[in-house]
Amino acid sequence: MTESSDKKLAGKVAIITGGASGIGEATARLFADHGARMIIIADIQDPLGQQVAASIGSHICTYMHCDVTDDDQVEALVQSSIENYGQLDIMFSNAGIISKSDQTILELDFPQFDLLMAVNLRGTVACVKHAARAMVGNRVRGSIVCTASVAASRGVKRRTDYAMSKHAVLGLVRSASKQLGVHGIRVNCVSPNGLATPMTLQAHERSVEEVEEIYEAGRVLKGAALRAGNVADAVLFLASDDSELITGHDLAVDGGFQDW
Ligand SMILES: NC(=O)c1ccc[n+]([C@@H]2O[C@H](COP(=O)([O-])OP(=O)(O)OC[C@H]3O[C@@H](n4cnc5c(N)ncnc54)[C@H](O)[C@@H]3O)[C@@H](O)[C@H]2O)c1
Repeated sequence: MTESSDKKLAGKVAIITGGASGIGEATARLFADHGARMIIIADIQDPLGQQVAASIGSHICTYMHCDVTDDDQVEALVQSSIENYGQLDIMFSNAGIISKSDQTILELDFPQFDLLMAVNLRGTVACVKHAARAMVGNRVRGSIVCTASVAASRGVKRRTDYAMSKHAVLGLVRSASKQLGVHGIRVNCVSPNGLATPMTLQAHERSVEEVEEIYEAGRVLKGAALRAGNVADAVLFLASDDSELITGHDLAVDGGFQDW
C-alpha cells in the first residue's frame, strides 16, 4: 500500500475500459491505492467486472457494462460518470482483443479483422472522443491514456490486424494530443511488450510460465517477467500530475524490445 502523502490521484474520477482483467484490473487496483475518488470499470465480462469492483471496495470502485464497439454505450458510460460523480478526470482506454487465427496477409480472415478493428480501434476512438467532449464541456484538464503495444510501431510476422489497429491507436493519440492541448487535456499511450494475461494465455494455449518465457526472448532485460503491474505503473504516471507536461507520448513498457 502507498502512504497517503504519496497518493497521486487523490479526488480523481477515472474510467478504465477492459478493467475486469489483466492490465485494466491491475491499473484499477493501483488507482485505488493512489486515492482515486471513484474508479469505473467498464467491460463486457459482467460477473468478473462486478467481482473485481467489489474486491477493490464499492465506495471507490464500481462496475458498468460497456461494449466499446457501441458508440452509444461509451457515451452513456461517460455521461454516467458525470451524473453520478460530477466529473471525469481520467480515461484509460484499454479494452482490446487479438484474433483467433494468425491473420497473416495471405490468410487474413475479414470477419475477425472487422471485430478486432471494432474493439481495438473504433472502441478506442469512441472512448477518446466522448471523454474529451466531457472534459472540454466541464473545463477539466484531464488525462487520456490508451493502451497501444510494441506492435504499434513495427511490422509483425503474424497478427497483421492487431499491429494495424495499434498503429492506428498511435495515430489517434498523436493527433488528439495536438487538438486537445489547447484545452489542457493530455493524451498519451502505453506500449507494453508481451506479458501473460488472459488474452495472451488464451492465444498461446500455454501456462503463465511458458508464455513469460516466450516473451522474455523478445526483451533485452532478462531475469524478471513483465507483469500487468509494470504496465499499471506507467499508466499511473501518465494519468497523474507527475507527467503534467507530457502529451502525445508513446511510453514503451517493454524491457528493451528486441525483435520477435
Ligand atoms: N498482454 C499483452 O501481451 C499485451 C501487450 C501489448 C498490449 N496489450 C493490450 O493491453 C490491453 C489489455 O489487454 P490484456 O492483456 O490486459 O488482456 P485481458 O484479456 O486480460 O483484458 C482485456 C479486457 O478487455 C475486455 N474487452 C474485450 N472486448 C471488449 C469490448 N468490446 N468492450 C469492453 N471491454 C472489452 C475483456 O473482457 C477483458 O476484460 C489490450 O488493449 C491489449 O491489446 C496487451
